Amino acid sequence: MSTQIKITRVTTATIREMKGKGEKFAMLTAYDYPTAVVLDEAGVEILLVGDSVGMVVLGYDSTLPVTMEDMIHHTKAVSRGTKRALVVGDMPFMSYQCSVDEAVRNAGRFLQEAGAQAVKLEGGREVAEVTRRIVAAGIPVMAHLGLTPQSVHQLGGYKVQGKGDAAARRIMEDAKILEEAGAFSLVLECVPKDLAREITGSLAIPTIGIGAGVHCDGQVLVVHDMLGMFDRFTPKFVKKYENINGRIREAVISYISEVKSGAFPDDAHSFL
Ligand code: KIV
Repeated sequence: MSTQIKITRVTTATIREMKGKGEKFAMLTAYDYPTAVVLDEAGVEILLVGDSVGMVVLGYDSTLPVTMEDMIHHTKAVSRGTKRALVVGDMPFMSYQCSVDEAVRNAGRFLQEAGAQAVKLEGGREVAEVTRRIVAAGIPVMAHLGLTPQSVHQLGGYKVQGKGDAAARRIMEDAKILEEAGAFSLVLECVPKDLAREITGSLAIPTIGIGAGVHCDGQVLVVHDMLGMFDRFTPKFVKKYENINGRIREAVISYISEVKSGAFPDDAHSFL
């Protein structure tokens, strides 16, 4: 008799309960099927199909060129590889800024076509109405404050945000506005850790930090950064848990050398 273990999907309620119990959770980005399978089996609670795909997979030097079609394509692959993690699709630049109706339709595509369970969008009070309307359509929204990479030109670069009283107050106010608009969680990117602690303590929804210190309810990293698969630049907040590029290079050098020497393919890898 075979026993089938039922895998229960992490939901927005699960991570809210985890915050209530003081249990931290882990989120990573994923952009393809095989990576999603491994990260899901390893037990990460949330997989974000980030628009960072533009930089770490597609080779652009910002997230701005990423399109809805790119995001749907990658989100489909991640959804196919995921049984347990909550899959969040990142709304790309210009998919939610032009009109609320277009934003709701685009958010819906992540769930209807791509198999995600939620979407993420960047910005503060200026996206409160869009957030409210997407949530009203039954689509959970993850908010994103601090360093919002789609606004890199307005921010003047990839810099720490929320330094100084006025800037910190504005981020705190935006966090409350987005919670009130119905966001189920909030990414805080590159903000001082004391500000992240204050925001985390004053919201009922979980915060997820990236360069925001240890006091957030969850943490997120870009998987290519933490595995050493993206070397163009490494922000201060990235901890490299592996050097996959180094390992790939070594494996490929061995392969080339064995092809040239005739050591590969040997009989074990041939049909006799
Ligand atoms: O696109 C992305 O990967 C993100 C995370 C860094 C939060 O937005």
